[in-house]
Amino acid sequence: MERAGLVVESGGTQCTIKVTSDAVETGSILKLGKAFGIVTGMRFSEDEKVGGRHTLTAEVQVFGETTGKGIKGIKKPLEPYTKAYPASVGELEGLLDCLDKISFGKVHGTDARAFVNGGEYDRHTAILASTGAGKSFLTANLIKEYSLKGLPILIVDTHGEFQKLLKQMDVGDSVIDVHTVGRQRQGMEMFTIPVSTLSCHDFTHFTSLNENQVHALDMVLNKVYNTKGDKYSMDDVLSACDELAEEAEDNSKKIHVETANALGRRLKGMARSFKNIFTVDGTDINSLVEPYKITIIDTSLSTQGVRQSVVSYISKKLLDGRINKKHSLEGETVDNVVLFVVEEAHNYGGASLDHSCKRQLQRIASEGRKFGVGLLVVSQKPSKIDEEILSQCNTGIYMHITNPRDKDHIRRSFESISDDIIKELDSLDVGECIITGAMVKLPFLLCTVDKINMPDKKESKLNFKKPEKIKTAGFDY
Ligand SMILES: Nc1ncnc2c1ncn2[C@@H]1O[C@H](COP(=O)(O)OP(=O)(O)O)[C@@H](O)[C@H]1O
Ligand SMILES: [Mg+2]
Repeated sequence: MERAGLVVESGGTQCTIKVTSDAVETGSILKLGKAFGIVTGMRFSEDEKVGGRHTLTAEVQVFGETTGKGIKGIKKPLEPYTKAYPASVGELEGLLDCLDKISFGKVHGTDARAFVNGGEYDRHTAILASTGAGKSFLTANLIKEYSLKGLPILIVDTHGEFQKLLKQMDVGDSVIDVHTVGRQRQGMEMFTIPVSTLSCHDFTHFTSLNENQVHALDMVLNKVYNTKGDKYSMDDVLSACDELAEEAEDNSKKIHVETANALGRRLKGMARSFKNIFTVDGTDINSLVEPYKITIIDTSLSTQGVRQSVVSYISKKLLDGRINKKHSLEGETVDNVVLFVVEEAHNYGGASLDHSCKRQLQRIASEGRKFGVGLLVVSQKPSKIDEEILSQCNTGIYMHITNPRDKDHIRRSFESISDDIIKELDSLDVGECIITGAMVKLPFLLCTVDKINMPDKKESKLNFKKPEKIKTAGFDY
């Protein structure tokens, strides 16, 4: 194998090599004597020690050396003039080998499968990149890999694209179950949300309410809860609202009759518009979470408010159900562990969002691991996502990102990311990603994500038919 270079400077776990092969790039994994290292950056230098002008050097982070029983950290710097070679396919796959290995691509520039530790799904993962970088393809690949291992998966599919993507892939024995929200589609079940999961602020995403009306609604919801418990219908809410208006007339409550009446009118409008969506019981989440099952909740035809309620409801049910299961508590259980996939996560865990879905996602992010609920958040606007949620994602998968604000937010939110990696995010091509954190043993891994063969749909957008001219009495019209 062609030599990659020669160690010219070394200290701690860092070393600099003089590069002698075109194959060396940032992210390349090298074998240096018994040790392995990853190229974290490259530059041309005129340093005399290197000998000669404009010599290409690479900074290498040495992450371990082979012993008889695997790999362990190095305790002293590498000797100068150690020869560096590109790690072979066998060596790379050996390095990345682990118990629950899955792979959604190849180690960049090689034929080695980029194995990551799927067992870390419950320590949460974030996929962050600009639009068009390949997030959805990567997410679909990841879902396929998990489901081949049987992990139950629940996806909130904002763009209605995962059924099509997963159909092009081999998901083995897994069943793909699609539920639609709001609109009936042939052969698909409807996913419904219980009214009782909506907080008074959540209602403001469906109908405009002023501060007084929100306050009155809070009283209404408390009233329904006190009489009906945690299962009630929209009609129950409407009756409680009428009662509140009557009580207001008696002046026994600190609420204006007009406020209560206006609230009633708004709620009636909402009940009409969302009658297929908000029900008493909602869909039974436990039946959606099964091994070898991928459940897609297609929210592509719903409003943002409905999607947020879907995320809020599912998150709450999953975590509460798992807590009940683990501690054998009364109430509904979710019998299996699960990976919950949330695309467009900035819409549900937005830093400035006031919706219960954000609090529910925060709960999963901080407590989910103990109960077997893993979160996979996907977003093109990392800087808009609540830091509490992002910082709980122990694995970061980054694709092409240029926005400095997004990069800054990522740097703040993730312990495992270094400035070297941040600098590289600009230069990633479509379908290339950097993985860092819990799922990889290496400081980071540069990976080319497997392509999904989608039917080619390249069509001109500006291909209009000319209107036909009508001839009447020898004139064109
Ligand atoms: N791993 C990949 N290999 C090759 N092409 C890819 C890959 N991932 C994405 N693409 C191309 O980029 C396009 C956008 O990918 P997509 O996953 O939808 O991006 P995003 O979700 O980040 O907006 C795809 O339609 C496909 O043509
Ligand atoms: Mg996408």
